[in-house]
Amino acid sequence: MNSRRKFLQKLGLGSVALITAPTILAQEAKNDQRAINKYKPPVVISTWSHGIQANEEAMNILSKGETALDAVEKGVRVVEADPNNHSVGVGGYPDASGHVTLDASIMDHLGNAGSVCYLQDILHPISVARKVMEESPHVLLAGQGALDFALQKGFKRVKLLTPEMEKTWKEWAKTSIYKPIVNFESHDTIGLLALDEQGRLAGSCTTSGMPFKLPGRVGDSPIIGAGLFVDGEVGAATATGMGELMMKTLGSFLIVELMRNGKSAQEACEIAVKRIWDRYSDDQNSEFFQVGYLALGKNGDIGAYAILPGFQYALAVNGENKLIDSDYLIKK
Ligand code: GLY
Repeated sequence: MNSRRKFLQKLGLGSVALITAPTILAQEAKNDQRAINKYKPPVVISTWSHGIQANEEAMNILSKGETALDAVEKGVRVVEADPNNHSVGVGGYPDASGHVTLDASIMDHLGNAGSVCYLQDILHPISVARKVMEESPHVLLAGQGALDFALQKGFKRVKLLTPEMEKTWKEWAKTSIYKPIVNFESHDTIGLLALDEQGRLAGSCTTSGMPFKLPGRVGDSPIIGAGLFVDGEVGAATATGMGELMMKTLGSFLIVELMRNGKSAQEACEIAVKRIWDRYSDDQNSEFFQVGYLALGKNGDIGAYAILPGFQYALAVNGENKLIDSDYLIKK
């Protein structure tokens, strides 16, 4: 029996539920009368449908008494290793020159952070990011330096470009037209946030970036404060979508700051999305602008919001692991 089936059986579930709104286990009214969705830990939340398998692994880790940090690393490794997923790890879309280049970041409840960008030939950038955090004096290593560091730490070189993606790239190269894809394959990056039973928060974010990006392009995922931010005293946030927009607004940091100042996780995600739209919707390419944010408060409060319809997230809590349609800003 595969591990997913075992997990579901342990929870007494036959299959993964697909629902359109959060099942609120506990609801608290705030001063402004808005309800917040608050869950008892352990809580794991992650982006897109691939989040279901990542949450499952993260919950398995938490159920063994390991930390939120272990859970966020090991959860996203499942997606990094899946060659059929074309937005993360092996099997990811290459850049315009046919190279798969990976970005990843990780943070713990103490505010420690590690990340890698433009990393090639390594299966698990998230684990290299954790090594940068724990075994180097730095936060972010890039390109050849990140690869040298990984090899020094015992990671093995692997070929990330699968035959399927090589064929796809060769087809694309006949025209070489770069066009961002909205809700690309219903994936685009996995960001995963976890709150363990001891109240420790952690987050991870890993991606192969935008398909056919310019060689050298780095997205939001490895940029602390853009693709990921964790403050163990307040909350955590992560992002998916067109990285340039999160980088210009430092959205994940903004969300955590808003939560520090009393906003619920949901309100904070909505404000961060509106910030992007207020500032950049005049852009001639704004019809392709999609960003999805997730937030998780230290109190188990969760939030999710996107610019456009189509963003989904996976929520594992209280014995369930569900795929949920996020609310969004542009309702035509
Ligand atoms: N959000 C992933 C990227 O823009 O690279």
